[in-house]
Amino acid sequence: MTTEQTTSPPRTGVGIAAQGLGQSVRGGRRILADISLSVAPGELVAIIGASGAGKTTLLELLAGVQQPAAGTVTYDGAAAAGTIGVVPQDDIIHRELPLARTLRYAARLRLPSATGPAEIGDRVAEVLAELRLTDGAATPVGLLSGGERKRASIAVELLTRPGVFFLDEPTSGLDPAIAVELLRVLRALADTGATVVLTTHQVTDVDHCDRVVVLTRQGRLAFTGTPAAAREFFGLRSLVEVHLRLDEATQPGEWPDRFAEQRAAEQPSRTTGDGDVAATPPRRVGRLRQWAVLTARNAEIVVRNRLTLAILLGSPLMVLGMFALLFRPGAFEPTSPSPTVTVMILFWIAFGGFFFGLTYGLLQICTELPILRRERLAGVRLLPYLLAKVAVLLPLLALVDLALLGVLRGMDRLPPVGGADFAALYATLLLSSAAALALGLLCSAAVSDAAQATLMLPMLCFPQVLFVGAILPVPAMAVGGQWLSYAMSNRWAFEGLGHTAGVERLWRDGGSPLGPPLLATYGDSFSRPLWVDWLVLGGFVLLFLGAAWVVLLRRDPRRAP
Ligand SMILES: Nc1ncnc2c1ncn2[C@@H]1O[C@H](COP(=O)(O)OP(=O)(O)OP(=O)(O)O)[C@@H](O)[C@H]1O
Ligand SMILES: [Mg+2]
Repeated sequence: MTTEQTTSPPRTGVGIAAQGLGQSVRGGRRILADISLSVAPGELVAIIGASGAGKTTLLELLAGVQQPAAGTVTYDGAAAAGTIGVVPQDDIIHRELPLARTLRYAARLRLPSATGPAEIGDRVAEVLAELRLTDGAATPVGLLSGGERKRASIAVELLTRPGVFFLDEPTSGLDPAIAVELLRVLRALADTGATVVLTTHQVTDVDHCDRVVVLTRQGRLAFTGTPAAAREFFGLRSLVEVHLRLDEATQPGEWPDRFAEQRAAEQPSRTTGDGDVAATPPRRVGRLRQWAVLTARNAEIVVRNRLTLAILLGSPLMVLGMFALLFRPGAFEPTSPSPTVTVMILFWIAFGGFFFGLTYGLLQICTELPILRRERLAGVRLLPYLLAKVAVLLPLLALVDLALLGVLRGMDRLPPVGGADFAALYATLLLSSAAALALGLLCSAAVSDAAQATLMLPMLCFPQVLFVGAILPVPAMAVGGQWLSYAMSNRWAFEGLGHTAGVERLWRDGGSPLGPPLLATYGDSFSRPLWVDWLVLGGFVLLFLGAAWVVLLRRDPRRAP
């Protein structure tokens, strides 16, 4: 079925014109050169070419996801009003949530702030129906079939009724019948006015399209026009053989040059039309609303993923159980204190707070990078994004830290401190957890996947054990270690806890002969006022969150490679 001659309803989509587009990557290698083409409003366009030819690159340049090294992309006037939908190859939805829920969150992040809940519900239902997903509305996204999930990713983008859609390999991995079904959906979108550009490895997909763009292995334009014209140009009965035909060329530039000649003969002067505008970013939902929606979504993801929640809350409980087994009661007994045990108790409490915070943060961002990348393009800001992570995880950490201190205090593993001192211990521990959470988020922002994040865990933990001053007191460390110890958030937590627990007084005045000499090796570690420790810990929170923000900003998809 060729559809280039369809008599579709009047189209109001977006026209795209690319002029002399080129892209190069690090090392100066040119991966795309001199691509000029135009797409009419409401066209369904396929970009084909061998693997590595530059299809994804061209799609991202046309969509404005990447900045070109050379040339320009312009949209006609309609783009200013509408938005751009981009569906990357990776899924851009959370697998934990039911489809309709995830679409609701996406709608609240993308539709104007004034859109009410009822209107959002209607829009979600409309989109589900349009993509024939209504039956799967209540199914968690992770349980949908591959084809349904691909349509779900498209549904997210359809919410804002974009005038133009870019899809990277939407049919890859789908069985042929489902792929045809998906193409029919895209065809219907184009017929109702949207411009749709997709990349594909399935040359049969091209038959559903109005226009095909053929790239050579070297990233040059071998052809653009209707599929029928392409067959004629390459002298083929079916485009299935087009890659072979391109590879038969004696020089890499043969087909691009031939096409340029033909085009020059047909259209002597090609210029972009007047009144074109550059792609404009969509209007953004306010930061506060973004934060609120993202926080609600994070909370729902945590709650819905029972196993994750069980691990998040269960592992601290197990550690607490181990502490209870390890430490004997009465170590802080004023008449017969046990200095070495008190050091270890305080250190491991501090390390527990650090470890929980770190592990809570470490998998948060790297596991949803494609979603973040897409939502950044839809206008989501990084600060609300990061603070929404903190808003959900910090209360959980507060619970865990409180349980840790409360139980140990109840079991006589802590000094018999009164309310104010207990609150001070708690505040120190919570600040320490917050700093570790921020460090975890920073690392999660810097790596590419969960495996890398997991590999970082020992690297992050070792120094926070070695250079804290508990295993070896800071004054007893080599000079380099002493300097490094300042950078360990755990050191400040450990010393703050020791200060509040009154170890100096306990060791000096207590009955243990080990006390005074041990105290001497610690120097003034525990004599610093508590507010200094808090200030430093608070500084770490801000530093790590700020660094996470910078790292994510540097990963901004709009930056040229
Ligand atoms: N950031 C980058 N750094 C270095 N090389 C890159 C980068 N991005 C893309 N490339 C290279 O540019 C070429 C084109 O990549 P692109 O992903 O556009 O190809 P493609 O046609 O989409 O391939 P596929 O069909 O396999 O998806 C490839 O050779 C790729 O290795
Ligand atoms: Mg690709």
